[in-house]
Amino acid sequence: MSPNQPDHVRLFIPGPVEVRREILEAQSEWMIGHRSGEFADLYARIQGKLQQTFYTENPVYIYTSSGSGIWESASRCTVREDAKILHLTCGAFSERWADVSRVNGKDVDLIAVEWGQAIKPDQLEDALKHGQYDAVACVMNETATGVRNPVEEYARIMENYPDTLFLVDVVSIYCGAKVDVDAWGIDVCLTSTQKAFALPPGMAFGAVSPAVLERAKDVKNRGYYFDVLEIDKHHRKNNTPATPPVSLMFAADKQLDDILAEGLEARFARTEHMAQMTRDWAARAGFEMFSEDGYHSPTVSNVANNREIDIAALNKFLRARGMVISNGYGKLKGQAFRIAHMGDTQPADLEALFAAMDDFLQQQG
Ligand SMILES: Cc1ncc(COP(=O)(O)O)c(C=O)c1O
Repeated sequence: MSPNQPDHVRLFIPGPVEVRREILEAQSEWMIGHRSGEFADLYARIQGKLQQTFYTENPVYIYTSSGSGIWESASRCTVREDAKILHLTCGAFSERWADVSRVNGKDVDLIAVEWGQAIKPDQLEDALKHGQYDAVACVMNETATGVRNPVEEYARIMENYPDTLFLVDVVSIYCGAKVDVDAWGIDVCLTSTQKAFALPPGMAFGAVSPAVLERAKDVKNRGYYFDVLEIDKHHRKNNTPATPPVSLMFAADKQLDDILAEGLEARFARTEHMAQMTRDWAARAGFEMFSEDGYHSPTVSNVANNREIDIAALNKFLRARGMVISNGYGKLKGQAFRIAHMGDTQPADLEALFAAMDDFLQQQG
């Protein structure tokens, strides 16, 4: 029994997500030096499997940071001094990435829609017709609102703007639905490990195209820790510029084997099935979805609290049964609640959650 966690509480929050015991244990391998041949082997082994999961032949860099680090890397390395970046915002995380670009001194234009809405392809097309951008940055799955944006449709538009780099945050959808990096021409595709990949937090992956490296050569002040040119130099030797999270990499090596053994398509289908189960439960229980119809996320459902239940009381009730969900994010606190159905969560886990939620609602009368 751990002093930090006397009882196991199963996480249905959208990150960190529940991590399987075998994955936690994979981190307890004996330490190896990161300039050793064993490390280069580990790096190369993970690399091939990461490329499969991102559907790309581009290198997938391993960052010793959470996903926010790659936001900074992407904003900083792709936008030149006299140029602009276009951010598509529809919730807290896409808005925060725009802030990251601003605090790094970039000139930011926005397409901003109400929380709960998706950004439509014609909005992007219109903005690109009227402005010139070094990069477009978007979030495929807005974790704060449960909206999945139509990135594959943006991709078709971006084909007409070959000098504009396409930066996509797939933090809460990678390994929960297909992210077809090469087919969609994504230049920086970034994710963290603590979401649908179902690893502990602390590491991030970024699939980066050759066009980004070319652009970076023309960008001043790329910084040190997140400079893609420096990262790429080491990547070519199956290494990282600074000390990497070796234990997390052991766990990633096993998790990638397990994900590929399940089959990517099967994993995506299981995730979508759980999303549908969640929407069905919500409808049965008299709740509406907060996210726009046609754009519901496959990995996290944002349920409108139209029944005005006490979400904190619900979570207290659930915790006593070894489970926890998420309140609405930021300004949606109390107005919505989020149920994550990603990673290694199984339909039976969700059934147990819904049974407990039904008990709570029944008790409320
Ligand atoms: C869509 C999205 N992007 C980025 C982030 C930030 O990632 P991290 O917390 O790994 O830095 C999050 C975090 O929840 C997120 O949901």
